[in-house]
Amino acid sequence: MKIFETGPDIARACREARRPLGLVPTMGALHQGHLALVRRAREENRTLAVSIFINPTQFGEGEDLEQYPRDLERDLELLEMEGAGLVFVPPVAEEVYPPGFDTWVNVEGLSEKLEGAHRPGHFKGVATVVAKLLNLTRPDRAYFGQKDGQQTAVVRRLVLDLDMDVELVVVPTVREDDGLACSSRNAYLDPQQRRAAPVVFRALTCADTLWRCGERDGDQLRSEVRQMLEREPLVTGIDYVSVADADSLEELETVTGRTMVSTAVRMGQVRLIDNIILE
Ligand code: PAJ
Repeated sequence: MKIFETGPDIARACREARRPLGLVPTMGALHQGHLALVRRAREENRTLAVSIFINPTQFGEGEDLEQYPRDLERDLELLEMEGAGLVFVPPVAEEVYPPGFDTWVNVEGLSEKLEGAHRPGHFKGVATVVAKLLNLTRPDRAYFGQKDGQQTAVVRRLVLDLDMDVELVVVPTVREDDGLACSSRNAYLDPQQRRAAPVVFRALTCADTLWRCGERDGDQLRSEVRQMLEREPLVTGIDYVSVADADSLEELETVTGRTMVSTAVRMGQVRLIDNIILE
């Protein structure tokens, strides 16, 4: 496994690597969700490249950039065991955003909805860093998790709109045994909150069950999910409950086609997001 700290170095290594090359972008603190992407990319490509970069531009003011979990040594051990060939770890933000950096990628429309409405500028930071990582590594395939459903829609739009020659692979959400989606931010939950947190997946599953029984009314599905979340006393806020077209993220009156049911809830200081696809 080779580790690169600068853009030109990883770019050169990727140019010289055996193809096809699969890229898994991450912010580190790797868990089973990340490893599912890594394994899939390992299986499907001759070279596996992984990036570990806590991208400051996708964090808003007052968000958890400073506390975001970091464990580079463990991450590198895991990647070595999983057979990663090339790892890009910019040691400082200036490596990715040098002085004078002034170009931003903004996927308009999609970025303003759902997460974007509660985290202004978040997807501009995501789209910009993903565009940079794709340009540096020029992968044949890039791997993203369904866990961040809106992120996959934003990246898909970005790749289409900027004519990027890469196949996006979306990997299903990996969950703990009790249904809670694996996330680096689960580490912020106290034991009581951790026990209550699976309510998020249970509420989404409830929408899936109703849909399977024939319910197609968007408002009805949104309201059932919301009621279930509200019954949990440790849920201190619900940022949104959405039943939307999985690509356009337009809220649906009537469910037809590939639909994403998604939510963001707050448990004290911790914010949990999750989604399921009805199909
Ligand atoms: P990060 O949160 O580290 O996630 C890296 C990748 O792992 C993302 O594609 C995310 O959707 C996926 N992932 C996280 N939890 C998952 C789970 N439980 N099951 C399946 N996949 C999961 O997402 C980011 O980093 C950043 O926004 C990034 C794309 C790296 C740009 O900075």
